[in-house]
Formats: sequence, C-alpha cells, structure tokens
Amino acid sequence: MMKIIEKSPLQISRTLYHPKMPKALSGTVVLEEGKATESVADQKEIKELFPNTYGMPIITVKPTTDKVSAPAINVGVILSGGQAPGGHNVISGLFDGLKALNHTSKLYGFLGGPIGLVDHQYIELTSDIIDEYRNTGGFDIIGSGRTKLEETAQFDKGAEICKKLGINAIVIIGGDDSNTNACVLAEYYAQKKTGIQVIGCPKTIDGDLKNEMIETSFGFDTACKVYSELIGNIQRDATSAKKYYHFIRLMGRSASHITLECALQSQPNICIISEEVEAKNQTLNDIVEHIVQVIVDRANQGLNFGTILIPEGLIEFIPAMKKLIAELNDLLAHNEDFLALNTDDEKRQYVKGLLSSDSCQVYRSLPKGIARQLTLDRDPHGNVQVSLIETEKLLIEMAAKRLAQLKAEGTYKGKFSAINHFFGYEGRCAIPSNFDANYTYSLGYTASILISAGKTGYMSSVRNLTAPAEEWIAGGVPITMMMNMERRHGEMKPVIQKALVRLDGAPFKYFEAKRNVWANTTSFIYPGPIQYYGPAEVCEQPTVTLKLEQGK
Ligand code: FBP
Repeated sequence: MMKIIEKSPLQISRTLYHPKMPKALSGTVVLEEGKATESVADQKEIKELFPNTYGMPIITVKPTTDKVSAPAINVGVILSGGQAPGGHNVISGLFDGLKALNHTSKLYGFLGGPIGLVDHQYIELTSDIIDEYRNTGGFDIIGSGRTKLEETAQFDKGAEICKKLGINAIVIIGGDDSNTNACVLAEYYAQKKTGIQVIGCPKTIDGDLKNEMIETSFGFDTACKVYSELIGNIQRDATSAKKYYHFIRLMGRSASHITLECALQSQPNICIISEEVEAKNQTLNDIVEHIVQVIVDRANQGLNFGTILIPEGLIEFIPAMKKLIAELNDLLAHNEDFLALNTDDEKRQYVKGLLSSDSCQVYRSLPKGIARQLTLDRDPHGNVQVSLIETEKLLIEMAAKRLAQLKAEGTYKGKFSAINHFFGYEGRCAIPSNFDANYTYSLGYTASILISAGKTGYMSSVRNLTAPAEEWIAGGVPITMMMNMERRHGEMKPVIQKALVRLDGAPFKYFEAKRNVWANTTSFIYPGPIQYYGPAEVCEQPTVTLKLEQGK
C-alpha cells in the first residue's frame, strides 16, 4: 500500500531548523536604558493621552555574567491582522525565552485574534504544540483576526481573563493598527493598575511598520521573495512567448514597499510607486500616458511584451482619488442608511448625492465596477480595503483604449495583449525565509526578556539586520514614540505613523536611476524560489530595500 505523506520533506526538515539569534540573547542578560523619548509628532496630544507610557527610554539587551533568577510568569499571546511569514516563530521564541527564564512559566494563546482576549477563547501552548509549528508559515497555531481593541469594556473583559489565568503580560503580534491597540491597552492597564503588561511585535508583509528603531516588519522579506520569484517566472514566460504585457498588482495596502522591493529584485519594464504619483500630483491619465509611452517605444523596437508592477494602494495616492476616498470614508463611517440600501444602483445614487462636486465628478468618471469597489466595507480600522480594488484591470482597460486611438492615428504599430495578476495571498503564509525565521524567533525571545523585566507599552525590536544574526541588537522601543494624530472614522485618533516609501531614500533613488533602462530594454532578473539550505549568498540575504537603506 502506498504510504500517505503527511508532511513534505521540506516541512519535516524545517521543524528541525534552529533559528540564529543575536549573541546577546544566548545567556543571561541585563537591560540598558537610553534617554527619554518623544513621539514622532503631536507630542502634546500624545503625552496627554498616554500619561503612564509616554517618554519611556529605548532599551538595549546586553549580556551579563550575573546570575539572574526569574519568578514564573504567565503570558498571553495574540496574532492580529493579516498573516505574515514568521508569526509561529515569534511564538516559539517567546515560549523558549519564557521557559529559559523559568520553566514553570506558562504561555497561553488567545484564539482568532484580539477577539479571543475579549471572548475568553484561549489554549495553553505546550511544547508539543509549539514543536509542530516551529519555522512554519501561517498563523494557524491560534488563528488571527482584525477586531479592533478600542473600548474599555473590551479591555476590562481582557483583564478579567488575565486575572483568572494569572496572566502577567500580553504580547500582541501585529501591524501599525494592532500595535496602536497594544499601546492603548498598555496605557489603560497601567492607569488601572491591573499589573498586566503589554508588549507589541512588528508584523506585516506590507513593510510599512518601520522607523529608526524598527528596521523592518517581519514577513516582508519572505513575501517579497515569493512575489519576486513569481514575477521572474512570468518575465521568463514573457520573453519566451513575446506576446503579452503582464499587469501585476502587488499587495501592500497604502505603501509601495513591496512593489519597490519586487522591482529591485526582478527589474520589470515599469513599476509605479504610489508615493511618487502623489508627490508629482499625477492623475490617472498621467499614469496611463506613461505606461502607453513605454509600450509604444518598445513596439518601435519590435518588443510587444513586458511586465508592469502596480502597488495595490495606488488609487488612494492619486490626489483626486484620495480626496474622493477620504470623503467616502467619512460618509460611510457607521452609516446605517447606506448599509440599509439593497442594490448597487441605489448605493451609487446615494453616494453621488452626498459627495462634493469635484469628487462626484471623479466618482462618475470611473468604470462602475471600480466605483462600487471603492464603497465596499471598510476594515475595522476604517481603512478602505485596497486589496479588493482591481486597479490592474482599470489600467489595462485605459491603456488599451489609448493604444487603439494611437493605432488609428498611425503612431502605434504594435500589438497589445494584456494579462492581469494580483499577488498577495500567495506570499503571506509561505515558509519563512531564514531571515524571517531568525528575525521572528529573536523578536519573540526579546519580548520574553522585556516582560520579565516588568516593561509595558514597548515594541520588541531587533536591529542591525544586514549583519549576520549573531551581531543583531535586541531591545525595546516605547510604542508612544512612533505615534501621531490621524483622522480615522471621521475623528482625530492617536495612531502609529505609517512608513511610506521615501522618495529621497536609497531604494527609490536606485530604482529611479535604473528605470529608463529597464523600460527600454529587457533587463529582467529571475530570482527563483527561496532557498533554505546552501551558501549564504543565496539563503541568508535580507531584502534589497534593507541593504540599500543601510548602505550595503
Ligand atoms: P496587515 O496590515 O494586517 O499585516 O495586512 C496585510 C495585508 O495583506 C495587506 O497587504 C492587504 O491589503 C490586507 O492585508 C488584506 O486584508 P485581508 O487579509 O483582510 O484580506
């Protein structure tokens, strides 16, 4: 009888991988505290809102020869938001760190995201469970969710279960919005003197949770490597068949970090960066004209194929569209009348009646399908769900129309056939690259140290990431340091500032210097699949973005 394979050979092999860690984490440690910190903007407002957790120092973990005895602690962990490769390793690093400090400490996992804390849904994470998930992709160990923790009733329910289970600290593994929640929760628990600490961990494939102290969010590395492999494969198909333009939209929410990193790894013919579109005040027509010009120029050289990368958040960065989306966000926030409408037509009429005249004109100029996608449900944080807006199809439709006009005028003689793709879910649960496996394990381990030292309102941080893992620097950064005030659901709220692509940053500058050559030639790179075993130059490399940002 044929043996049924329960796990792939790679899955089996990866459970045995020992993540590399900063040297400082390998023995007993001491915490070194820096100077008091300030929030990135709106200091007065943030200080007033977070009197207990504002201004705390940056922490660095240092090795010591002193003997440390730690009391047993119970910790609860939450996975929040979209999946990102390495989440399971944050949990295994946290588990191992807690057990190394005191083997009687316990780790509980709240199920299905933040709602698990509120609804008291949890499991105890034992070594049998943890061992099954080491170095694997996905968030399935305890599941994730997008419930926003914002009401005191939710916080109190959370405190109730923590009291019952003897939980001293909660670790929230999430993106900017979830870490904003972590910060609010830490402040509330400190203010109420519950004795419950809250620590955040920087997760998101989008790469937009980064700053001076948080060099990258985990998952970005693996996800970009998966998408770049797929783009490379498509590029090889394009150069072989020579008949299609591939319009490839990439996840990443507002920021274009993923798209830019994939362009640096694969050298497509066109790559649109939303932040540049906004800075240059470009319209949808400007973007289409640019794409069409490249297609015409390539056709003149007999090249009727290519690749075009599009960030999923593009639409929000076209100034006129941004204004329209902002109006729609305010208009649709908690709008029961809108929700009660049954047909798309009724919704369209309703929205048109309430928009400003400029925005109404933009809304009416869009293909109906795209206009409808702009009014779909917001996520619980009030963001438009850009992953549902098919910008790649819109651009194909508009480019085809314009090329047909040019053909009729006799200025375009090529052939235009386009195929659309959207890459996002393909990369979010991939087996973490060695970089992400090491980084996440270290983040989790560092979180256990911050907890054991009684810290709250901190994000676990591991820096110096372009150096070998042994030289990484572990520590903690006060979350209030990353906050500013932004408009959400029609109100000003304290939130972690999103990191967008910097047009004066080295990754964009490098791309800018190369893009004309990539447009007019076929300079594709084929990155191939992530490698887990082999020489360091193929299996230990961080992203190109990180290397360029750190001048490597
Ligand atoms: P996070 O910010 O939660 O990490 O989201 C990552 C992301 O993959 C975005 O790139 C994308 O826009 C969104 O999640 C899709 O959301 P969903 O998982 O709800 O479909």
